[in-house]
Amino acid sequence: MPVTGETKVIDTILNRRSVREFTDKPVSKEDINTILSAGHWAPSGLNNQPWRFIVIRNRETIHKLSECTHYSGIVAGAPLLIAAFLDTEHTYNRTKDVQAIGAAIQNMLLSSCELGLGGVWLGEILNQSEKVYSILDCSSKLELMAVLAIGEPVPKERTSTRKPLSEIVFDEKYGQKWEE
Ligand SMILES: Cc1cc2nc3c(=O)[nH]c(=O)nc-3n(C[C@H](O)[C@H](O)[C@H](O)COP(=O)(O)O)c2cc1C
Repeated sequence: MPVTGETKVIDTILNRRSVREFTDKPVSKEDINTILSAGHWAPSGLNNQPWRFIVIRNRETIHKLSECTHYSGIVAGAPLLIAAFLDTEHTYNRTKDVQAIGAAIQNMLLSSCELGLGGVWLGEILNQSEKVYSILDCSSKLELMAVLAIGEPVPKERTSTRKPLSEIVFDEKYGQKWEE
């Protein structure tokens, strides 16, 4: 759902849904830079910035990458892919560095949403990371974390669910239910 005007971060967070069907409209360079900047301004432990991104718009490359995942239709239909990597030569703590890349990815999804675009975080493609490295000429120091498929959403209602807070949050001690 495109979010416009004076939108609060919480509205964008709550309105964002994974988008898996895109129109053919290309994503502008300006929007791509906004999305990348949102990723880049994520927090990271020691401000290590362990992320590396590859922007993919070439149809042939997108087609090759679509063959690296069960979600080939999503990838093949996207005008833009952003592959997110961990630079393993610049890690200081693997857990924290991986967490930081998750934050960067979420920032990119949220900023896409705010621009009226949509996207989905693709993890299944990690099962074929080696093929991705070969297609993108990656250095062996890069470890694939996710591929984001981004574009103008095909209009349709998208819903999702979450567990109730009372199931996942505890009050003071584990086992003591959080009452909203
Ligand atoms: C680590 C991770 C991996 C994911 N991998 C895939 C994937 O391979 N294919 C896909 O269609 N969605 C994938 N998703 C999207 C989730 O399915 C989606 O976020 C979840 O169902 C909640 O829906 P929502 O994003 O619309 O709120 C992934 C999400 C995360 C965070």
